[in-house]
Amino acid sequence: MADAFFSFFVLLPLILLPILYFIVRPRPVKIPIVNRHVFITGGSSGIGLALAHRAAADGARVSIMARSLTKLEEAKSSINHATGIEVAVFAADVRDYDAVKKAVDEAGPIDVLLLNHGVFSALELEKMELSEVKSTLDINLMGCFNMIKAALPAMKNRKNVLPASIAIVSSQAGQVGIYGYVAYSASKFGLRGLAEALQQEVIGDNIHVSLIFPPDTDTPGLVEENKKKPELTKIIASSSGFMKADEVAQKAFDGIRHGSFFISCNMEGIALSLATSGLSPQRSFLMAFVEVITAGILRIAALCFQWNWYGSIEKWHKQRNCSPETESS
Ligand SMILES: NC(=O)c1ccc[n+]([C@@H]2O[C@H](COP(=O)([O-])OP(=O)(O)OC[C@H]3O[C@@H](n4cnc5c(N)ncnc54)[C@H](OP(=O)(O)O)[C@@H]3O)[C@@H](O)[C@H]2O)c1
Repeated sequence: MADAFFSFFVLLPLILLPILYFIVRPRPVKIPIVNRHVFITGGSSGIGLALAHRAAADGARVSIMARSLTKLEEAKSSINHATGIEVAVFAADVRDYDAVKKAVDEAGPIDVLLLNHGVFSALELEKMELSEVKSTLDINLMGCFNMIKAALPAMKNRKNVLPASIAIVSSQAGQVGIYGYVAYSASKFGLRGLAEALQQEVIGDNIHVSLIFPPDTDTPGLVEENKKKPELTKIIASSSGFMKADEVAQKAFDGIRHGSFFISCNMEGIALSLATSGLSPQRSFLMAFVEVITAGILRIAALCFQWNWYGSIEKWHKQRNCSPETESS
C-alpha cells in the first residue's frame, strides 16, 4: 500500500513532470492587453459587451462590431460611462466578407481579435428548417473564417513585436453534443478544428489562438433561447453551471493573457476541457500533468454522464408515450 502511494504521488510526478515540461507545445507566452487594439465581434450585447467593458477597463483600445448600429451606440455609451474610454463601433454582418473587410481595414491592425458573435436556438433537427441550420453555420463558423481572413494580413504585419491573439468564443456545446443543439454544436465543434489547425499556421507570426467555452451565461441571447428550449435540452444542459457575463469575460481575459488554447470558465468547464483535451495544444506542463493523470477517471465520469443523459431521454420518451394526450392521438 505504502509502495503504491509512493509510486503514484512521488515517483510518477518526478518522472512525468520533467518530461511534460520538455515536450509541451506551444511554449508558454504572456499576451499584454494594456494599450493593445482589441477588436470584439458581437460586442454590443451579452458576453461580447462584458468583454468590451473588461478590455476597456484593462486599458485596451477597443473596437466592437455587430449588425445593429443602435445597439452598438448604446454599448459605446455604456462603456464610456463606466470607464471613460471611447470605443470604436462598426456595423457589419459577419456573413458579409466585403463589409467585414471594410470594418477591419478602417479599425486598423488588431492585436487581440475576439470572435464572440454567435446565434443559438435549441431545436430538434426534425423541427428545424434547413435555412436555419445554414444560417447558424454561416454566422457561427463561416463568420469566424471571414473575420480571420480579413484581419490576419494586418495582424501578421503588425509593427510591434508583442504576441497577438485570436480568441474564439465557442461553447460547452462545442465540446459535447447536446440534445437540441444539432446545428449549434456542429458550428461550435467546427471552431475547434479551425482553431487547432490555425494555431499551427500562425504560431510563426507570434499569434496565439484560444477557444473559450462558456457555460449557460446570463445574456439577452440566452433569455431568448430559453423561451423555446426543448425540455430535454434543459434537463441535459443543466449538468453545467450558470454564470454572469462579466465573470465569463474575466475568465476569458485571464486565459487570453496566458495564451491558453482552451479557456474554461467554471469547475464543470475545466473537467470538460480535461476530458476532451485529445490532441489539442497545451502550453502548461502542470495542466498537461493533470490531463494525463485524470484521463482514465474522467472517461469513467463521461460514461456516467452519458448513462444519465440517455436515461433521461428514455424516461422522457416513456412518459410521453404513456401520457393521455399521446394515447388519444
Ligand atoms: N449566453 C450563453 O449561455 C452562451 C453559452 C455558451 C456560449 N455562448 C456564446 O457566446 C457568444 C455570445 O453569446 P451571447 O449570449 O452574449 O449572445 P447575445 O446576447 O445574443 O449577443 C450576440 C452578439 O452577436 C451579434 N451578432 C449576432 N449575429 C451577428 C452577425 N451575423 N454579424 C455580426 N454580429 C452578430 C449580436 O449583435 P446584432 O444582433 O446586432 O448583430 C450581439 O452583439 C456566442 O458565440 C454564443 O454562442 C453563449
